[in-house]
Amino acid sequence: MQVLEKNPMTVRKISENIGVEITGMDFRKPVDAATQKRLHDLVIENVAMVIRDQHLTPEQFQDAAKLFGELMDQDHPKYSFPGMPSIKRHSSFNVAANGEQVKEGIHWHTDGAFRLNPPKFTLLYAVELPSSGGNTNVVNMRAAYRALPEELRKKLDPMQTANVRLAPKSRDRYNANNVAIMAAGGQVPNMHPLVRTNNDNGEKGLWFNPATVDYIVGMDPESSQDFLHDLMEKTILPQFTYAHKWKVGDIYVWDNRQSMHKVDFDYDRSQHRLHYHAMTRGERPH
Ligand SMILES: [Fe+2]
Repeated sequence: MQVLEKNPMTVRKISENIGVEITGMDFRKPVDAATQKRLHDLVIENVAMVIRDQHLTPEQFQDAAKLFGELMDQDHPKYSFPGMPSIKRHSSFNVAANGEQVKEGIHWHTDGAFRLNPPKFTLLYAVELPSSGGNTNVVNMRAAYRALPEELRKKLDPMQTANVRLAPKSRDRYNANNVAIMAAGGQVPNMHPLVRTNNDNGEKGLWFNPATVDYIVGMDPESSQDFLHDLMEKTILPQFTYAHKWKVGDIYVWDNRQSMHKVDFDYDRSQHRLHYHAMTRGERPH
């Protein structure tokens, strides 16, 4: 990996289109304002960032996450640490509304797209890992959008999506908690642009979660799902994607506004996979 800088932390670029790795940081120690800003800006530039070798309690992880912005409460508060509604104990042994082990994030998505103000960054901190598998993949949807033919970009630019917790025609039925929320009455859709502009860099990127898109304005729900899945085939390509192989102590941060992510559901489910999880507040998509 190419070293970009070494002061005081070491910054290495992971690939041309996505990802940066930080070593030499210890979030148990105070972080000065210039370093805090540099970390924030590196996430924006590179879409995804890995910070290695941390040793944090849930409280220390909460403090580290706050360096990246104001924290948001979790979507399913039952998994949060007591007294820390924004810090989730993201465990493969968590039990979902159907009484089974949770199956979350196993399809490409962006976090919290059903909200009026979805999260800006997501942060995960690895505490316990299975012996193999369970990579977390992030794709740069800014670069993927830029690489599309101009004709198609023009067609996509004005499109609007109607977002709920779990779209009735979604092909992702695995999040039993969202299935339960929809069964209990769902929600009034929040309208979002399919192509959104990032407040921090002014750049456009494709932005959607097929599981939350009830419909694209002007299309029926079935055709909307076909359209989004076809778009994902055109954009979620190896050159725009970083598959992170976890080590205990890694913090992984990504910009939800210009990316999609998913976990590889290929690990032994009898082994414990535990992360702490946080999200920072984002602007209304525009
Ligand atoms: Fe997610």
